Amino acid sequence: MNVKPGKVAIVGAGFVGSSAAYQIMGDGSATEIVLIDKFETKAEGEAMDLNHGLWFKPHQKIVGGGSYELCKDAELIIITAGANRKPGQTRLDLVKINAAILKEVMEGVLHYNKNALVMVVANPVDIITYLALKQSGFPESRVFGTGTMLDTARFRYFLGEHFGVSPESVNAYILGEHGDSQFPWWSAANIGGAPLNTLKQYNKETMNALFQKTKTVAAEVIAKKQATYYAIGMIIARLTKAVFSDEDHVFPLSTMMHNYYGVSDVCLSVPCVLNRKGVKEQLKIPLTAEEQAQLKHSGEVLKGIIKEINPQGV
Ligand SMILES: NC(=O)c1ccc[n+]([C@@H]2O[C@H](COP(=O)([O-])OP(=O)(O)OC[C@H]3O[C@@H](n4cnc5c(N)ncnc54)[C@H](O)[C@@H]3O)[C@@H](O)[C@H]2O)c1
Repeated sequence: MNVKPGKVAIVGAGFVGSSAAYQIMGDGSATEIVLIDKFETKAEGEAMDLNHGLWFKPHQKIVGGGSYELCKDAELIIITAGANRKPGQTRLDLVKINAAILKEVMEGVLHYNKNALVMVVANPVDIITYLALKQSGFPESRVFGTGTMLDTARFRYFLGEHFGVSPESVNAYILGEHGDSQFPWWSAANIGGAPLNTLKQYNKETMNALFQKTKTVAAEVIAKKQATYYAIGMIIARLTKAVFSDEDHVFPLSTMMHNYYGVSDVCLSVPCVLNRKGVKEQLKIPLTAEEQAQLKHSGEVLKGIIKEINPQGV
């Protein structure tokens, strides 16, 4: 892969932002990684810690701080700044808190950088991606969310384990909302080109159980270690590499819909082609009638949330 490294800015130097920085540094896909956080000393400390590993991963510059001036000239801005849900908070409370954080972040970013690609990771990722797109005024190709990447990674892991193959050999996607209304694109799921239901380990009940596990396993990880950050950190780094190597790689990313099976004016995940200019294309995939209904349902759920937080429109 021909990576031409560029400058990356990560806003939010918490668990997810710092895990992403660590993996991007390990991959060597950036010339410079800047970490920006409201909690300035945290961003500085993370950058110091990473710099102490430059002996092993040289030729990179890592800087941390609180000023958005640091994101000047970055080609890619990754937004991980956001709160996690606290006991007693409703989902909607969290949406409002993270939408307010996003507004502050976008104001800071736009003051210094109007040319970058924006990758949104903060949750609820589909809503925050939609707001980032509206607030930035950037072309739609330049703003995308990690969407169902993590769900798809978990799904491929569980399917790989069940069928006895590497997750890399599993071609299966979770689409729609990064949340409760997500759904598996069962009609296209295959291993080495073989549809799942042609394989000897196939069993419909088990497949459904593996999808349910995919959907709920985050809660289990959070109960055990308070947060999830390594897998999403690797996902952010993988997408960063796809951008800087101008790969035209297909990933399920959250992007703006325009009459995609009747879904419009909402961001959710379908397979997209990613390169150095951003999202080149949303693939127009064949969905069964049931999958189309599931996609529409995801769109309605997300639209309902957008209306609740922003009834007058952005
Ligand atoms: N999309 C996904 O698949 C996925 C996976 C895991 C986590 N997440 C989300 O990523 C986000 C970050 O998670 P985390 O575990 O790193 O949380 P964290 O609390 O460890 O880190 C968040 C960081 O954001 C910073 N921050 C808060 N407000 C800010 C502001 N206005 N400006 C700049 N920085 C600000 C905080 O100081 C903190 O360092 C959450 O919204 C979480 O739900 C998304």
